[in-house]
Amino acid sequence: MRLMTSDYTELSAPGHGYVTGPLRPDMAHDLLERYGFAVVHSPSGEVSAEDAHREMAAVRAGLGLGEPYAPLLYRDRGAPPVTEVTRKPDADHPAFHTGAAQGWHTDGLLEDIGTIRTTLLYCVRPARGGGRTFLLNAGRVFAELGDRDPEAAEVLLRGTILGRRSTIPGAVREAVGPVFAALGDGHYATRYGEGRVERWYPRDAEEQRCLARALRYFRSRRDDPDVRIDLLLRSGQCLVFRNDVLAHGREHFTDDPRRPRLLLRSLHTDAPERVS
Ligand SMILES: [Fe+2]
Repeated sequence: MRLMTSDYTELSAPGHGYVTGPLRPDMAHDLLERYGFAVVHSPSGEVSAEDAHREMAAVRAGLGLGEPYAPLLYRDRGAPPVTEVTRKPDADHPAFHTGAAQGWHTDGLLEDIGTIRTTLLYCVRPARGGGRTFLLNAGRVFAELGDRDPEAAEVLLRGTILGRRSTIPGAVREAVGPVFAALGDGHYATRYGEGRVERWYPRDAEEQRCLARALRYFRSRRDDPDVRIDLLLRSGQCLVFRNDVLAHGREHFTDDPRRPRLLLRSLHTDAPERVS
């Protein structure tokens, strides 16, 4: 996979990026390999939830993805493998069921780094206002940090530096691991995030200082369109992204109560493969 600075500059227009023709997984493959994400869209434009489920299955098949993965956090809660991301009056999930902004994170709170390689987000209905999805080329920022401040970068590779704690009421669980791990091809898997779930575990004062520099560098870089893209999905558009190499977040949104924002999400432990 090549994730180049200049590529992200081209893709920085909100609501755009490269949207392929109707469910064109052949093109989506190239985009995924080049950028780590692709947006495919429905041939029918406006879609129902049933259409969306059917088209997500078509996207999965076209990209050679297996069945959706049930994350550890929800496995014992009877959650369906394709999650509805929408506001609910009895919100029991701090991100799925509210219109609040969601900080930078990767999916798979309790999974080991790199486990959930692909996320699909299918937009059935956009919000009345806001609700953009942000993608960050975290590996690129990490590579920059490694050049500038190797000691700070090294701390992010340490296997017990970052705990992520479930914020769902009644399910207090935490998984500890590194922020980055080498994939062996010159790229890095990531579980970078800065929101409400992170707990940082520097071993000593020196590591604390290195960590502070590392996180400060990420904050200074993550709004730069060279490494970030904001996407406003429209009805019938499906965002496919490499959750193991890109961090993501969400802008807050407001709803038309008669037509609330509805996205469907599925997670996958495999990355897209070419299907002949
Ligand atoms: Fe997410």
